[in-house]
Amino acid sequence: MTPDHVLCVVGARPNFMKMAPIVRALAADPGRFQTTLVHTGQHYDEAMSKVFFDELQLPRPDVDLNVGSGSHAAQTAAIMAAFEPVLLEHRPAVLIVVGDVNSTIACALVAVKLGIKVAHVEAGLRSYDRTMPEEINRVLTDQISDFLFTTEESARENLAREGVENGRIHFVGNVMIDTLMAHRERALAMNTPAKLGLNGRFGLLTLHRPANVDDKDAFAGLLSALEVIAADLPLVFPVHPRTRAALLASTAASRLVADGRLRLLDPLGYLEFLGLMQGSSVVLTDSGGIQEETTILGVPCLTLRNNTERPITVTSGTNVIAGTTPETILKAWRELKSARGDERTPEGRTPGRRTPPLWDGKAAARIVEVLDRELTADS
Ligand code: UD1
Repeated sequence: MTPDHVLCVVGARPNFMKMAPIVRALAADPGRFQTTLVHTGQHYDEAMSKVFFDELQLPRPDVDLNVGSGSHAAQTAAIMAAFEPVLLEHRPAVLIVVGDVNSTIACALVAVKLGIKVAHVEAGLRSYDRTMPEEINRVLTDQISDFLFTTEESARENLAREGVENGRIHFVGNVMIDTLMAHRERALAMNTPAKLGLNGRFGLLTLHRPANVDDKDAFAGLLSALEVIAADLPLVFPVHPRTRAALLASTAASRLVADGRLRLLDPLGYLEFLGLMQGSSVVLTDSGGIQEETTILGVPCLTLRNNTERPITVTSGTNVIAGTTPETILKAWRELKSARGDERTPEGRTPGRRTPPLWDGKAAARIVEVLDRELTADS
C-alpha cells in the first residue's frame, strides 16, 4: 500500500504548538502516511515563528509561502493564491488545518474547491461573537471541512446547531495540551522567572486582540484596571507585535513601566513562556489557547474578554471571564484575591478544578487513528 499523503498547514504562532504533535504522530508511521508541511508565513518574525520550530522540533517547512502581514482580505487572498499551486502539485489525500487564524480558512477554502478532503483540528469552538475575525474563520472552516476534530463536548453541540452531521465530528481531545505535557518539565527546568529576576510573586499579562488593543478607549480602560492590579502584584508582559504601537502611545502604560510595576518583554519562545505561566500567581490574557494551558497548569486565569469559545476552561478549569471594563476586571481580581486564588497551593492547584476529558497528551494519536480509519474506508 502506498502511504497516504497528508499536507499540514501552519501560519501563525498558535498553530505551531498544535501542529507539532500531529506531524510527529504522522511521522511515526511512515509506511502509512507521507507528510508535507507548509508554512503560509502569516507570522514570520524569528520570535513569532522560527523559535517554535526549533523548540518544538517541528521539521522545517517543505514549502514556505512567505505571505506576511496585510489587511484581512489582502492576507487571506494572498494565502489562497500562493497555496493553490502547492495543492495542485501535491494533491494530498487530506489537508490538515488547525485553529482559527486567517491561514486556516484560506487553505481550507482552496482545498475544498479542488476536491481535497479537509481535516479541521480544534473544530466547533464558538464565542458567538461575530466581531471576532477568528469566529468567522471557525464557522466557515467547520462548514467546509470533512473531518472535525474537537477538543471539548460543547463543540459538538455548536456544530449540531449549525447543521453539521454527527458523523463528521470526532472528539479527540486537545493537541495543544499534548505539547504542553511533552514540554512542561523542560520548561520548568529552565527557571525562566529567576533568570528574568522575578523572584517573588508576579502576574503574567498578554494582550493582542484587535478589540482590546486597536481601540484606544478599550485599551485605556484595560490599563486603568491593570494599574490597580499592578499595585498589588508586579506584572510581566511579553508584548505581541500588534500591541507595541498602542503601548507606545499610552501615557498610563509608560507610567506603569517607569514605576517598574509593568515589565515589558519581547515575544517569548514556547518554553520560556510556559515557564512564566508555571511560575505566575495569575495570568491575565485575551488569548484563547492560554485559557486552556492555565487550566492544565492549575494557574488562575482572568480572561480579558466578554466571552470564551472554550467554556470548559471555566466550568472545569481555572478560567474566569473578567470582561474588558475596569469595573468587571477589578471585581474578578478582588474575588480571586479574597479566595486567595492568587496564592498558589503547594501543588500549584486551584481547588475544585478537574482535567477536561481527553486532555491527556494523546490527542494527536487519536487524530491519526481516525484519519487512518477514514482514509482506509475511502480507498
Ligand atoms: C493572529 C490571528 C489571531 C491569533 C494571533 C496570535 C488572525 C485573524 N488572527 O493575529 O487569531 O490569536 O495571530 O499571535 O489570523 N506582525 C509582526 N511579526 C509577525 C507577525 C505579525 O510584526 O511575525 C505584526 C504586523 O504588524 C501585523 C500584525 O502583527 O500586521 C498583526 O499580525 P496578523 O497575523 O495580521 O494578526 P495577529 O494579531 O498576529
